Amino acid sequence: MKLADTGLTSQDIKDKVSKYMIETYERFDFLAETAKDQYIYDENGEAYLDFYAGIAVNSAGSCNEKVVAAAVEQTKTLMHTFNYPYTIPQALLAEKVCETIGMDKIFYQNSGTEANEAMIKMARKYGIEKYGPNRYHIVTAKMGFHGRTFGAMSATGQPGNGCQIGFGPMAYGFSYAPYNDLQAFKDACTENTIAVMIEPVQGEGGVHPATMEFMKGLREFCDEKGMLLLIDEVQTGWCRTGKVMSFMHYGIKPDIVSMAKALGGGMPIGAICAKAEVAKAFTAGSHGTTFGGHPVSCAAAFAQVNELLDRDLAGNAEKVGNYFMEKLKTLPHVKDVRGQGLLVGVEFDDSINAVDVKHECLHRHLLITAIGGHIIRMVPPLIITEEDCDKAYDIIKASVEALG
Ligand SMILES: Cc1ncc(COP(=O)(O)O)c(C=O)c1O
Repeated sequence: MKLADTGLTSQDIKDKVSKYMIETYERFDFLAETAKDQYIYDENGEAYLDFYAGIAVNSAGSCNEKVVAAAVEQTKTLMHTFNYPYTIPQALLAEKVCETIGMDKIFYQNSGTEANEAMIKMARKYGIEKYGPNRYHIVTAKMGFHGRTFGAMSATGQPGNGCQIGFGPMAYGFSYAPYNDLQAFKDACTENTIAVMIEPVQGEGGVHPATMEFMKGLREFCDEKGMLLLIDEVQTGWCRTGKVMSFMHYGIKPDIVSMAKALGGGMPIGAICAKAEVAKAFTAGSHGTTFGGHPVSCAAAFAQVNELLDRDLAGNAEKVGNYFMEKLKTLPHVKDVRGQGLLVGVEFDDSINAVDVKHECLHRHLLITAIGGHIIRMVPPLIITEEDCDKAYDIIKASVEALG
C-alpha cells in the first residue's frame, strides 16, 4: 500500500496505530512505505540504509525479485490448503533444505519461536519414549534467547529479563549454564537431561559466538551421554554467519536444528530439521499446525534459498563481515567488536549508551538495533558491499562523536 492512495498522512497512520494497536515495540519514528535491497524508503522517498534487515530476515535483499515472483505466482495458483494434500512447494523446499544442510527430515512451522517449540517437544518426546518418563530436561545457556512462546521463553536463560517478567512460572524442565563454559554445562546435566540447547552465536545476549572447544565439547558430551544437541539457528541460519548454517563452522552436526527468519526471504516460515532417528518421535497427530508449510511461504523460501546459494551470499557475508568488523574496531569509544559473518556487535565503553547510538543513526538514516546498555547489533542484508559498510561506518562514527 502507498500512503498517497489512502488519502491519509503519515501522522494519521501513527495516530491509528497508537489508538488501535497493542504496542510492545519501541517504534522507529518513520513510516516504512517501500523497500528494495538494502534500503527502506518512507512516504517521501527518503532512503534509509537498512542494517537490521527486518531482524536478519531480508538476507537476499528486501523485495528480492525472484522471491517476490515465486510468492506472487504461488498466491495466484494455490494460496492455502491444509497439510492433508501434498503440495509442490513443501516437497521442493524440503529436499533443498535437507540436502543442503545434511539433515534427514524437516517439519514446517511459522516462526522462530514455533520452530523452537517443535524442537523442544521433539526432544522431550524422544527422551521419554527412549529412556523413560523423567528424561525430558533440557539445559540451555544463560543470556540465550529462543523466543516468546512458553516453551521457548522458558528455554531462554534470562530470568528477570523483560521477556519473562510478569508471566508467572516458566515451564518446568529447563536449567541454565553460562555460555561457552563446557564444564558448567556438563555439571548442569543430570540423569534426567535429554538435551542441550544453544545458539551458535548468542544474538540478543550480546553477539557472542560459541568457541570451537565449547561446540565440539558439547557434541562429544551429548554423544557420550545419549543426549541430543539442539541448535537454534533462527538468527544465524541461511548464510548470515559466512556458512550456510553456523554449525558448519565447527565441523559438527546437531540432532535437531531450528531455523526461521532468512529462510522465507520476508514471508513467515520456521522449520526444524532433525536426524531420522530423532524425527521418529513425531508421529501422526503428535504435532501439527494450520499454517506451517504454507504454500506461499514455502515457494518464497525455495526461491530465497536458491538465491542465497546461487549468489554465494554466505561467501559475501564472510568477506564483507570481516572487512566491516575490522573497520568498526577503529570507532571512537569502542571496547569490543564481535560477530560471525554479517551478524555483528559493537560494544562501547560505559560513556556511550547503545539506544542513543541507535537513535542518532536513525536520525542520519541508518537502521541498526541496540542490545542492553552499550552494545549495538547489525544484521544487514547479505548482498551489501564494502561501500555500504563504509557508509554505515561513517554514520555510526558521526553518531558516537555526537554523543561522546
Ligand atoms: C536465536 C533466536 N531464536 C528464536 C527467535 C524467535 O524468533 P521469532 O521472532 O520468529 O519467533 C529469535 C528472534 O529474534 C532468535 O534470535
